Amino acid sequence: VAPSHRRPLPVDRFWFGAPHYPEHSTPEERKSDAHRMREAGFNVVRMAEFAWDLLEPEPGTFMPDLFDEVIDDLHENGVATILCTPTATPPRWLTRSNPDVLRIHEDGRRAQHGARQHCCTTSPILRDAGDAITRRMAEHWAGHPAVVGWQTDNELNTEQWRQCHCEACQTGFRAYLADRYGDVSSLNDAWGTQFWSQTYDDFDQIETPKRDRPASTNPSHVLDYRRFLAAATAEFQRRQVAVLRAADPERRWFVFHNAGVVEHLDIRGAFGEPLDFLGYDVYPMFVDPPQRPWYNAWALDWIRAWAGNVFVPEHQSGPCGQVSFFSENPEPGEIRRMSWTTIGHGADSLMYFRWRTARFGAEEYWCGVLDHDNVPRRRFREVADMGAELGRIGGDIVGTTVHVDAAVAGGDLLNLDAHASLPLGLPGPLESARRVHAAMHRAGLAVGVVHPEDDLEGVALYVVPHWPVFLPTWAARLGDWVGGGGTLVVGSRTGTRDENNHVVTQAPPGVLGPLCGVTVEEYGAQRAPDRERFIVLGDQRIKTSDWYEVLRPTEVVATWHGRHLTGAPAVTRRSVGAGAVVYVGTQLTGRLVGPLLPFLTELSGLRPLWPGTALPDGVACVRRDGAAHSLWIVTNGSDEAVDLDGAPDGDVLAGDPRRLQPNDVLILRTARAL
Ligand code: GAL
Repeated sequence: VAPSHRRPLPVDRFWFGAPHYPEHSTPEERKSDAHRMREAGFNVVRMAEFAWDLLEPEPGTFMPDLFDEVIDDLHENGVATILCTPTATPPRWLTRSNPDVLRIHEDGRRAQHGARQHCCTTSPILRDAGDAITRRMAEHWAGHPAVVGWQTDNELNTEQWRQCHCEACQTGFRAYLADRYGDVSSLNDAWGTQFWSQTYDDFDQIETPKRDRPASTNPSHVLDYRRFLAAATAEFQRRQVAVLRAADPERRWFVFHNAGVVEHLDIRGAFGEPLDFLGYDVYPMFVDPPQRPWYNAWALDWIRAWAGNVFVPEHQSGPCGQVSFFSENPEPGEIRRMSWTTIGHGADSLMYFRWRTARFGAEEYWCGVLDHDNVPRRRFREVADMGAELGRIGGDIVGTTVHVDAAVAGGDLLNLDAHASLPLGLPGPLESARRVHAAMHRAGLAVGVVHPEDDLEGVALYVVPHWPVFLPTWAARLGDWVGGGGTLVVGSRTGTRDENNHVVTQAPPGVLGPLCGVTVEEYGAQRAPDRERFIVLGDQRIKTSDWYEVLRPTEVVATWHGRHLTGAPAVTRRSVGAGAVVYVGTQLTGRLVGPLLPFLTELSGLRPLWPGTALPDGVACVRRDGAAHSLWIVTNGSDEAVDLDGAPDGDVLAGDPRRLQPNDVLILRTARAL
């Protein structure tokens, strides 16, 4: 199935539970787990992603007893298990006998044993050992009625050393390049090696690029290194998935990975391809309090651009503490409110990280559902209430998709990598998409994040922020969509580079020039603080970022004011068929998108999703659509109670459709909304 933001999870129920670490507790503590989990409405737990040392204490041994016991105990109580390949924490016997499996930092330091993700996923030794433990586990639990699925590894490439320069990476990178280019002269062309005398005679002469050694590195070389890292990560996982599938010929198991930060993960391509769906870990409290409701929504909207709906195997359920930080504790009702935001924006299953808080290790203060003393308190009760609520409503969620009518472009690894390889100190596709999304979210629009290859049916307004690379096929699809009535907004610097990170021969916006009806005549940054510069849009004067472009347009929407720019076109518009294209010759900052939005919503005929009076800041409405019904989810992330009006007619599944207290949630089921 092609990846789409509209893809629901192929599951027959809403899975609800917690990651569980029986290896972190005593048999006495574990005695009460099964019945408490049942009390909390759990139907599943996730286990073993860091338990390699326990499962294989010496090379070639296999000790599944603890997990056998726990899986069976939970099974008798109606709780199923998702197991994990434990390869994020290779054991000491492996790193001791084969120190070459440890990652090498670009400054030459070797990772130490003692944390996690210390080994390189390119290493053939790690790959073989990882496949072997995966095979033992898969064969041992094949056919077990309680084991319903697997997670591969854990948040690949999320820890700080996301890249590696070990010997296996050198060999692997060269092999990747030889495969990609065939002959070294094609590589020389693709990398523009005539610049600074970098020409190679043989693939064997090439090394992984290390930053600023001693000057800026070639952005084409860096881009291919990033491609290689993604390919290597995908291959590492592909092998494990193949081992799991071989033990499960009837395909009873679902297999996913829990993405954290998405670095070097080709989710729309080779990484996502062997999986049944994607998992995504959600911790909404890492930003300042006023931003949290939006950030929670953004994270899910953004991941859907890559994978469609997700399984959330880790969701914040308490304060997060690692060695150097400790976050706030969710207030009463906040776990539920965050969870419904997560579900509203595309989670089809959800687990609270973690069941019982550990008393040791780097996360001994990463607090879960149960406290250190194993006593169920407020967080347990809130989780259990959520379990009961999902017991009633979960069935209405499965199979539905998130309604989107305004979207920002996202989910493209090439553009993230092209920008990361040559950022110019400017915000890239991700930061810009966040700002656009935040403004649309604040305006109450049904905003999503959609890749230009994906389904834009029903989307009235689509913003491509600053994508350095824009493929001709995407431009053609967008052209058709605009012709059919869509409003496209293109931000500065889009379409300026090719797939090698070379600047294209046309003036910006390159391949999008004809569709936008614009040529960028001049561009630059203006930084002197005393040189006032703003955009004049109707009677508004809007301050912009440093970046300016002077445009030769079809129709001028706004002009520049400042120095030699005064009077020059800054925002333009072109009508195409039933739709329109707007080009914005500067960064899409929050300060600019806010004031521009009324113009864009009018052009595209968009209205906020909530039918009544506009919802205040922090209060948000989202809709999930099934074949015959829609679920409306309104969450109050503000500190004030709000009065609501105009609620659509339907069954009230939770809350009061007229008034919503802080942290409260309104859930309505109506006939399918159009
Ligand atoms: C996730 C990770 C978990 C745990 C959690 C809290 O990123 O997958 O294993 O570390 O964060 O830190």
